[in-house]
Amino acid sequence: MRGRFITFEGVEGVGKSTQIAHAAQYLLGRGILPLVTREPGGTPLAEKLRALVLEPQHGPVGPTEELLIMFAARASHVAAVIRPALRRGRWVLCDRFTDATEAYQGGGRGVNPVWIRQLARIAHPRLMPDLTFIFDAPAAVASARVSGRGTGHDRIEAEETEFFERVRRAYLAIAAREPGRVRVVDATQPEVAVADVVAQALEAALRNRGD
Ligand SMILES: Nc1ncnc2c1ncn2[C@@H]1O[C@H](COP(=O)(O)OP(=O)(O)O)[C@@H](O)[C@H]1O
Ligand SMILES: [Mg+2]
Repeated sequence: MRGRFITFEGVEGVGKSTQIAHAAQYLLGRGILPLVTREPGGTPLAEKLRALVLEPQHGPVGPTEELLIMFAARASHVAAVIRPALRRGRWVLCDRFTDATEAYQGGGRGVNPVWIRQLARIAHPRLMPDLTFIFDAPAAVASARVSGRGTGHDRIEAEETEFFERVRRAYLAIAAREPGRVRVVDATQPEVAVADVVAQALEAALRNRGD
């Protein structure tokens, strides 16, 4: 039996961490102990790169530096954590992946999407998620939740609303392009309703796990 690579996407505050925890619980109930991880991060090197790129005191960080740091962290994470886990048949739940780079550095910062696809081929050749949830909500809703969470803003979260609306549009463009892989979930619904939608998609993935 092979594992599944499942990613959770959407702007900050939309509910990714909340839903990844529900998804892990759901899979546990079905006898699967998933590996839960996040980007940027997931290895000691990638967590250091995360701190460098997100902590405001290291700014200013240009779009090209941001892009390359994200992919350096991703290459480390894929090689040391994601691929070995998938090879062992683990299910991997990852908070953000290359779609986030297309949305933030592409849609948000205006980096050429062709470069992003080329770097994806270098950092994780032949690896894309089996299933991706894009949690969608207006930027104002997500940012109100970040404020409610009380964890403060990192360098990228400190951008203005228009930046997050560009990120959101880029995410929706990915979903329109790859409907077989990507599920858009209305994240303005109550937490349990969102969790139900995710659980139904996980159930479908479980039914197909013989291949
Ligand atoms: N569907 C929801 N409705 C209302 N609040 C939510 C919902 N999902 C999550 N939250 C709350 O919003 C905040 C941000 O959620 P979180 O999961 O941390 O988002 P993300 O990981 O995408 O940044 C948290 O305080 C969380 O409890
Ligand atoms: Mg989170």
